[in-house]
Order: sequence, then structure tokens, then C-alpha cells
Amino acid sequence: MKPFDPASALSARTSAIEEIAIIAMAQKARELKAQGADVVSLTIGEPDFDTPVAIRQAAVDAMNAGFTHYAPIAGYPELRAAIAERLNQDNAIPVEPTGVVLSNGAKQALTNTCFATLDEGDEVILIAPFWAAYEGIVKMAGGVPVIVSAGADTAFKPTIEQVAGAMTDRTKLIMLNSPSNPSGAVWNADELRALADLVQSHPRCLVLADEIYEDIWFEERPTSIAALPGMFERTITVNGFSKAYAMTGWRVGYSASCEPLAKAISKVQGTFTAGGNAFAQQGALAAITGPRDEVDAMRASYHRRRDLIVSLLADIPGIKVVSPPASFYVFPDISGLLGKAAGNTRLETDVEFCHWLLDEYHLATVPGSAFGGPGCIRLSFAASDDDITTAMSRLAKAAATLT
Ligand SMILES: Cc1ncc(COP(=O)(O)O)c(C=O)c1O
Repeated sequence: MKPFDPASALSARTSAIEEIAIIAMAQKARELKAQGADVVSLTIGEPDFDTPVAIRQAAVDAMNAGFTHYAPIAGYPELRAAIAERLNQDNAIPVEPTGVVLSNGAKQALTNTCFATLDEGDEVILIAPFWAAYEGIVKMAGGVPVIVSAGADTAFKPTIEQVAGAMTDRTKLIMLNSPSNPSGAVWNADELRALADLVQSHPRCLVLADEIYEDIWFEERPTSIAALPGMFERTITVNGFSKAYAMTGWRVGYSASCEPLAKAISKVQGTFTAGGNAFAQQGALAAITGPRDEVDAMRASYHRRRDLIVSLLADIPGIKVVSPPASFYVFPDISGLLGKAAGNTRLETDVEFCHWLLDEYHLATVPGSAFGGPGCIRLSFAASDDDITTAMSRLAKAAATLT
């Protein structure tokens, strides 16, 4: 008998999911660092701040007060009510507390929504460049990603005609990530209205609006599509505490929608994991009901660093940069540097470029291809001024050697 190969027992769904390139690049950077290399990494998609003290204290107090048991499936009523109040007041989304479902991070809220709405073969429009995890989540839920691409020339936003051209009878969801990871693009109110009209002309299409970066804006506060006339019933708004409050490790996120959708999302949440972490939700309650000065201070700090990195990038010949109006990412177009020779090798793709940059200049970045945006690279400026300055001088030096 042949020896058993465990890999032969994996599901087709799991096998179809590729390792996320962000993780691969961060891992390679860690390995080089462990070998003693002076690596600067701009790969990380999380705030470089610790969670504010008052939020941490609230979770410690909650744990000591007995919040160590299962939380309700859809989350604690006080937290659901506080989130609903904030969404009504600040975002003009008319959601009831019962429409809010807590989850272990926004990522799980996205997953819950896909499992609650997609049947096998349903199509999901992804606007490229998009957060790398979307494709895997959609495929795991049985959906079929349909990609609509936009480049630096249109500030990474497609025309409404492009989106319309990708829609079919099977389109069930449009994933709208405004502000966007990786480009920081924000859809303005007019663009959202055009998208809303398109969605409403379709019998069964919903919008999954991932607004996780909504508090990290530099020009004007982003608009929520769920606030537009006729869109509340058609939109699931996903958000969480990871980015605005520097709470990535806490794993608290949520979806907000009308009640029939919320009930289905809650059913998925209960099926996969029961309720989200009990004491982390109490920390989140302190975050959303507490003073916002630390969130504002973090935003101001990202704003300053956005200006720094964009000005340094703009000075590098061969790189085109769109200043991101939100998020802590910038997505420069490096296609002007591709096709050139680095010593004996020719760098044809953004993936080859990023590996070369890491190997030769010890600068870790993420290839745009990982986000469906070939020809670009993603840089996170949730990094120190020193790291940003060193990274950009290495990038400039590297670019200057290409012939
Ligand atoms: C666009 C986007 N959505 C969702 C998430 C996940 O957030 P959470 O940590 O709350 O799961 C991320 C994290 O990087 C993200 O970039």
C-alpha cells in the first residue's frame, strides 16, 4: 500500500486559496533580520501605536468583573446600542441596535456576510486594487470574484461604466472598500450616488461596504454609502476597532445592516465561533463611548507621515505617486522602473522588483500584484519617521541603479 498523503485530503476550496503575499514578504523580512541584516519593513498593515490606556484598563476591569464567559452571539446589547448610535449620528446610517452584529474582527464580519449572502456561483465584484483577503473569503464562501481594475491615472477608482459592464444576473455583492487598502482611495458622495443608482437598478445586488479605515482621513471625512437614499436595505457596512483605536490584536469588528440581513449574519457568527471575545467587547465599549482625542492624535500623526512619504516618493524618477486621501498606505506606480536591468537580471514585474529591493537594499514592501494592482507597490507609513526616511532613500538609490 502507498503511504498516505495528507495533502490529498484537503478540500478544493482550501487548495484554491493562495498564501497572502503580504505575509510572505513580512516573513522573508523577518528571516533576513534574524540573519543580522538591517532590514526596514513598510509591509505591516497595522497602527504602530499601542491601544490607549483607558481602553486597556476597561478590558482588564471587565475581566476582573467576570466578563470571562461566552458573550451573546451578536454581541453585548450595550455595545450594539453604542455602535448603532454612533453610526446614526456620525454616518447617517439608520441602523437599529439589533442590526449590529459583533464579530472577532472586521475580517470575520466580512466572512459572515459572504456566507450569509452568497450561494455557490454567485458573482462578487472586487474593485482592484483590493485588500488581498477579499478573494479568499469570497471563494471560501462559494462566490466567484469578478475583478474591475483601476490604476493610478484615475486615483484607483473605476468609472461607473466599468462597474456596470462587469455586472450580470449573478452579481450578488459589490465589495466597496472606501477608504481603500492598499491605495487609500476614497469614493466621494457623487461617485457613491452613481454606484448607488447602479446597484438599485439591479434586482438582487447588495453592497458590502468595508469602512475599517474611515477614521484615518486627511482631507474630508468619508461618506457611507448606506446613508444614501434607498441604500440602507442594500448595504452591509463593516467596520471595527483595529485601525482607528490601534486594537488589531483584540479582534473586535462588526457588521451593521437591516434586520433580515443581521439575523442571517448572526446565524453564521453563531455557527462558526459563538459570540466574540467578552472582555475585548467591553474594551471596545470604552473605546466607542470614550473621548476621541487619542484617535484624533493618531490621525494627525498619520497625516504628517503621509505628507513626508509622498514628498519623498515624488522626488524619485520613474515613480508616479497619488497622495492617498485616507488610510496609512500609499500605492506608488513603479511601472516606469520595470523592464530595466539590475546587474545581470532584468526586473519585469512588481514581484521581482520587491524581492530585489528586499534582497539587495533590505527594504521590505508588498508587490501590487498581491492586491490585483500589478505595476505598483504598497508601502505602509504606519512606521517611524526614521524608517520612512531611510526606506525612501534606499528606494531612490535602488531606482537610480536600474539601467
Ligand atoms: C480593508 C480591510 N478590511 C478589513 C481588515 C480586517 O480588520 P480586522 O483586524 O478588524 O479584522 C483589514 C485589515 O488589514 C483591512 O485592511
